[in-house]
Amino acid sequence: MMDLAVALLRLLPPETAHRVTVELAARFALFVPPARRDDPRLGIKVLGLDFPNPVGVAAGFDKNARAFRTMLKLGFGHVECGTVTPRPQPGNPRPRLYRLRQDGAVINRMGFDNDGMEVVGKRLARRRKGIVGINIGANKDSADRIADYRTAFAKLSPLADFVAVNVSSPNTPGLRALQNRAELSTLLAMLVEARGGKAMPLLLKIAPDLDEHALDDIAAVVLESGIEGLIVSNTTLARPPWLRSGYAQETGGLSGRPLFEPSTRVLAEMRRRVGTKLVLVGVGGISSGADAYAKIRAGASLVQLYTALVYEGTGLLTRIKRELLECLARDGFSSIADAVGADVKL
Ligand SMILES: Cc1cc2nc3c(=O)[nH]c(=O)nc-3n(C[C@H](O)[C@H](O)[C@H](O)COP(=O)(O)O)c2cc1C
Repeated sequence: MMDLAVALLRLLPPETAHRVTVELAARFALFVPPARRDDPRLGIKVLGLDFPNPVGVAAGFDKNARAFRTMLKLGFGHVECGTVTPRPQPGNPRPRLYRLRQDGAVINRMGFDNDGMEVVGKRLARRRKGIVGINIGANKDSADRIADYRTAFAKLSPLADFVAVNVSSPNTPGLRALQNRAELSTLLAMLVEARGGKAMPLLLKIAPDLDEHALDDIAAVVLESGIEGLIVSNTTLARPPWLRSGYAQETGGLSGRPLFEPSTRVLAEMRRRVGTKLVLVGVGGISSGADAYAKIRAGASLVQLYTALVYEGTGLLTRIKRELLECLARDGFSSIADAVGADVKL
């Protein structure tokens, strides 16, 4: 059934297929049979939360908090909703989403199309079970981007289990400049102050297109700030020369298979810099248990995926979890936590 649904969805233009998927997930949550309980070896406790398994849905899939219930029921360990901005905005003109089928990749220049924090907040307020994070960003036409993060944080953090701070989307001009040392330091200090004494985990989502020097700066600022973690990574502006698809030169962020190697490299680079002081979330090109496991061995306590779902549907999740257990058994680890960072000498 699921294979058939995925095959049919693939016949539609990519953005329509995504809209239909989210609409179905939103309307039929009640009818989705819950996944089997996870093997306890897949469970991991980080950020003060008990994740039943390390595999989550990356930001962008459920921008408006409509599908998270269904995704959790299907067996994802968490869902990161968003990116949500203070005011609703339409995003960039269409077309803005391309399938690079031969490359197992997607290019998007959505530009934070979202319903805005008020509407998304109402939806999140109705949630009950499962771990849901919220990814926040700034409006494209904002005069004060840092103020936008403060506004979105104040509204949405009480409704979520963790907050992801997105300074790495390539589709809002100038946004990635917030990864620079001075601006990042101001932004994170403001958010840490805004949460006050509340135990609200804060994670920074970074780009894969950062040189050694930028990684040094980010690691230093993040460690100094007192936030809990890093999500590595967002989509890339790079275009490997071997891409085969006709859409390869479209403007936007590239995700999926070609992102696996660079995003995993940056993840390991960050693990080397921050050791066990931060929780790392590995994202980028995961389409198998072996991919997820490689991210974990590079330092990730949690992993997330999006693009592979476009090609393989949610059946992929069951396979990833099974293969992860096989990888753990093969290497003699009794839990995910034991394998975190195994490939990175500190
Ligand atoms: C269509 C699309 C929309 C996305 N929107 C967002 C977003 O709003 N915020 C964000 O932080 N990341 C967004 N991402 C990036 C993903 O969360 C993820 O970091 C990236 O796609 C790499 O993972 P993947 O290779 O498994 O897709 C988006 C990705 C895609 C493909």
